[in-house]
Amino acid sequence: MKKYKRNLITAALPYANGPVHIGHLAGVYIPADIYSRYLRLKGEDIIFICGSDEHGVPITIKARQEGISPQQVVDLYHQMNKDSFERFGIQFDIYHRTSHPTHHKTASEFFKTLYDRGEFTEKETEQYFDPGAGQFLADRYITGTCPKCNYDRAYGDQCEQCGSSLAAMDLINPKSTISGSVPVLKKTKHWYLPLDQYEGFLKKWILEENKHWKSNVYGQCKSWLDGGLEARAVTRDLDWGIPVPIEGVKGKVLYVWFDAPIGYISATKDLTKNWADYWKSKDTKLIHFIGKDNIVFHCIIFPAMLKVEGSYVLPENVPANEFLNLEGDKISTSRNWAVWLHEYLDEFKDKQDVLRYVLCANAPEAKDNDFTWKDFQARNNNELVAVLGNFVHRTLVLTHKYFAGKVPGQAVPDKYDLEVLSSIAAYRERLENHLDHFRFREALKEAMNLARLGNKHLADSEPWKIIKTDPDRVKSILYTSLQITASLVAIIEPFLPFSSRKLAGFLNVEGVAWKDIGKKDLLRVGHEIARPELLFDKIEDEAIQVQLDKLENSKKMNEMKEAGFPAAKDEISYDEFSRMDIRIARILSAEKVPKTDKLIKLDLDTGIDKRTVVSGIAEYFKPEDLPGKQVTILANLAPRKIRGIESHGMVLLAKDPSGKLIFVRPDQETSNGSAVL
Ligand code: MF3
Ligand code: ZN
Repeated sequence: MKKYKRNLITAALPYANGPVHIGHLAGVYIPADIYSRYLRLKGEDIIFICGSDEHGVPITIKARQEGISPQQVVDLYHQMNKDSFERFGIQFDIYHRTSHPTHHKTASEFFKTLYDRGEFTEKETEQYFDPGAGQFLADRYITGTCPKCNYDRAYGDQCEQCGSSLAAMDLINPKSTISGSVPVLKKTKHWYLPLDQYEGFLKKWILEENKHWKSNVYGQCKSWLDGGLEARAVTRDLDWGIPVPIEGVKGKVLYVWFDAPIGYISATKDLTKNWADYWKSKDTKLIHFIGKDNIVFHCIIFPAMLKVEGSYVLPENVPANEFLNLEGDKISTSRNWAVWLHEYLDEFKDKQDVLRYVLCANAPEAKDNDFTWKDFQARNNNELVAVLGNFVHRTLVLTHKYFAGKVPGQAVPDKYDLEVLSSIAAYRERLENHLDHFRFREALKEAMNLARLGNKHLADSEPWKIIKTDPDRVKSILYTSLQITASLVAIIEPFLPFSSRKLAGFLNVEGVAWKDIGKKDLLRVGHEIARPELLFDKIEDEAIQVQLDKLENSKKMNEMKEAGFPAAKDEISYDEFSRMDIRIARILSAEKVPKTDKLIKLDLDTGIDKRTVVSGIAEYFKPEDLPGKQVTILANLAPRKIRGIESHGMVLLAKDPSGKLIFVRPDQETSNGSAVL
């Protein structure tokens, strides 16, 4: 294997349009963190890079849904995800963001370099445009009927019913999700990266030189390459992103998948002035940790960009994982079928390592895998508590009981003890072999096997039975147990950093270097350890039931949504509620707003004033039936002009899934102006 001077480790930049969930963790961040911690523990030169991916259509969609600006969306989730990662012990050297000026500059310059050299091809195509909204529509902004399965809510890029990937042009009855109107085709010009021209290079580099990549990664690359590559547009018609840095070009931005991976470079620039040592040297081992949906971008497109630019290193490996499911179902943000990291951290205080353990033990390394709460509980109780925690606890308790908390000497070393002691180094070697090849599940198993060995050695030797008759033998037994425990500080650190810290505290040591695993007298004879505490505690059924109930709730909500009821909204405070001025008013007169189908103009007596409200109820009510009726209104809604009429407030209505509207009214006559609480 080639020796490298430095390691540049990247983890996919999560979109800042939502919180991080266990699928992200198992797929990307846990393996990347384990690997980075391992290299640090070995004393290698390593930097670990991540940050928020803050551009792209999903961000603008989220902003529209929430009625806030894209900047507000990314500010919110950038901070949230940065904090959650930190609390979870994911030890990035920097958590950057692609809205940062350094990144805008870096990505613009990258584009400009290729543009000036004529590396891009220019093409004019026709694209869907929403004339009402005055903007081109990204695929996700178009819905229509799927040509394959007839599902009537398919998106311009994909049908979520049958899973087919689609082109917006294929949709039957396309509709803009922004305005609901029918989009028109309009010409637009874009810049393309001619991937077809790099096929030769990519085939040689991947298929011949990168045979060591994981088979799921290599296989996906091969099928892309076998299918033939096409030029890819690297610009988009969008108003959120990095403006295309070409004179005279307006309203266009870099495609998010062009700018985002450059974010790794921008982040490194803001981390260290020696950034070029990492990015522009053949001595750098560049590793991208990603999920499988990112493979084409990190193995084909980004390397092609780097290669064409010419001054950067290419990745040595791209250890992508497959997907994690949750309780047998695909994780889905829109269906709230997920375990969200920030919620886990709040609900399972100081149990970061339990989730880290379970997600690593179950990581979807070679195929999709399933997370279940029962398995989470079982792995905690039967493995962390019963194996690792138990071994450590017995060792510490017995040391205190028999030797006043001091490491005993091996008065008469026993054969069994010596065998056990000399086998520790082999665990380190096996772990290294697994970790060097991104087999984190196997590595974790090996780590636990050392604790198992410790347990077995204690159980076989039964020091509690011979302490009276053969105290020297007991010294040797516990000396052995204590050395294993000390080696475990280093061995578990990459996987269970919080527990490693704790264990170091129990043993009264600063920490243990990787190379010292299995070293003789790692804990010196006479060294005093601290009072034993528990490393892990049992997780009871109740805590698991709470989580299962939450998921059951999501299921119910989804059924409601399917049936046409709106999704539950985010919690608000009492204070937010009390800012709404809701009261009873009487309709004085009503008339249809001319040239509209739905609108009726209502004159109301609100008790505090007389005012006009325009309401979209004409399909369900006749104006002549309305005067005299009492209704409920939101009185302090900012006035809005609707069809030239100033509307002051809103009449509250209930809408059933068919769209039918009825008034929300008091069930008895009451005074106009009565407050609704
Ligand atoms: N935001 C992307 C995703 O979540 C990943 C971007 S990785 C980067 O799928 F390389 F582009 F930054
Ligand atoms: Zn379909």
